[in-house]
Formats: sequence, C-alpha cells, structure tokens
Amino acid sequence: MVLKIGHRGAAGYEPENTLPSFKKALELNVDLVELDVQACKSGELMVIHDLKVDRTTNGTGYVCEKIFNELRILDAGKKQTIPSLQEALDMIDKKAKVNIEIKSEGIARPVFNVILEYVKQKGWSWDDFLVSSFNHYELQKFSQLAPQVKTGAIIAGIPIGYAQCASMLKSYSLHPSKEFINQALVDDAHNRGLKVYAYTLNEPEDIQKVKLLGVDGIFSNFPDRI
Ligand code: G3P
Ligand code: CA
Repeated sequence: MVLKIGHRGAAGYEPENTLPSFKKALELNVDLVELDVQACKSGELMVIHDLKVDRTTNGTGYVCEKIFNELRILDAGKKQTIPSLQEALDMIDKKAKVNIEIKSEGIARPVFNVILEYVKQKGWSWDDFLVSSFNHYELQKFSQLAPQVKTGAIIAGIPIGYAQCASMLKSYSLHPSKEFINQALVDDAHNRGLKVYAYTLNEPEDIQKVKLLGVDGIFSNFPDRI
C-alpha cells in the first residue's frame, strides 16, 4: 500500500502549512501530514516553508529576523496565522503521523525537544514522527540526538551512489523529487532497506507513474488523488 502524505497539510485545498490545511489533510485520511519548520528570531519553531514570509503571507522579510509576535500578526491565507510546531501537532492530535521537515539550520535540538515533550507528556510515540531535511548535516545532528526517531533524507537530484547518502545517515526513508526519480534510484533504495517517499505529485498521471516505480509513499497537495 502506498502511503498518502499530505504535503504542507492539504495545500491544494487550504493555505499551505496552516491549521485548516492540516485539518483538511486529516479529513482526507492521510497517513502522514508533512509540514515545514524553521526557527524565528525569538526561538519558537514556526511552520512555514520559505525562508521569507513574502510568498505565503501579507508581510515581507525573513522569518529568522522576526520575533514570534511579529509573525503572528501576518495573514498566512484566509486570515490564518503562521502556526507554531506545537499548534500544528495539537491540531493533528495523533490522528496521523507527522513528517517534520527541518528547513533552517541549527534546529535539530529544538525539534527534538518538542518531539520529546509530545512523547513524554502528551501520549505520542516516537513512531508518530518522521523527521526529514534537504540538509543532511542537520539531519545527522538530529539522528545523533534521537536515533529512536525515524528520519528521511530528501534529495533533489540523482546523486552518485543513488541512495547511499540515506544509508550513511541510517535513515528510514529516501525522499526523491518527481523531477529526479527513476527505477534505478528506487531499486537501490529498496535494496538498502529504505522506504521511498516521492514528492510532490499532484497530477493523477504523475501519481500513477511513480506508483509504477514501486514507491512506498507519495507527497501530494491533493492527498485524496493518491
Ligand atoms: O519533503 C518533501 C517536500 O516537501 C520537499 O520539498 O520544497 O515542498 O519542502 P518542499
Ligand atoms: Ca516540505
């Protein structure tokens, strides 16, 4: 069975990385909700994709140069605020697993601290989390802190050695992009014992194509199409 992964929630239906987007993903029965996390100037972990707020809000400037209260007055779409990681987890409330994508450097420990809090105090299990990143150094730091939490190595090309980078990181999964995925990459990942979760597939024919390659999960803005 191919896992349904709601990309930035269900970003095809609601503003990406907002609470309604996560709610919609749950309504569509996703297996995992994917969300993007970075730290703001006052240290809180905020759920937003771009390093700047310009594209997804009515503000301008870098997330890391704004304190929490400055971010909270912005409209992230349909009058929603940029959620904190904790608000997103509270909305998801164990109804699906969560793929936390680390977007900014230096947040391996704070991300781990939040996961620890949810496992120790809020009834979540380690297995409810999958932490991923394009930044494999940050991912390595995370794994060293929390070898009990699954990690996923995101790639945006076909590296020499195919899925070797994910093996070196002792990751659970490899997350290749739809632009760079082929049978050799999928087979190599599987031979190494890795799951393959492909991103981000929105068109039904593209979804069908990667299914034929034998991927284990698909990220989509329209998870009901998977
Ligand atoms: O993790 C899969 C995918 O979300 C990575 O790309 O740019 O949408 O964060 P991006
Ligand atoms: Ca992402």
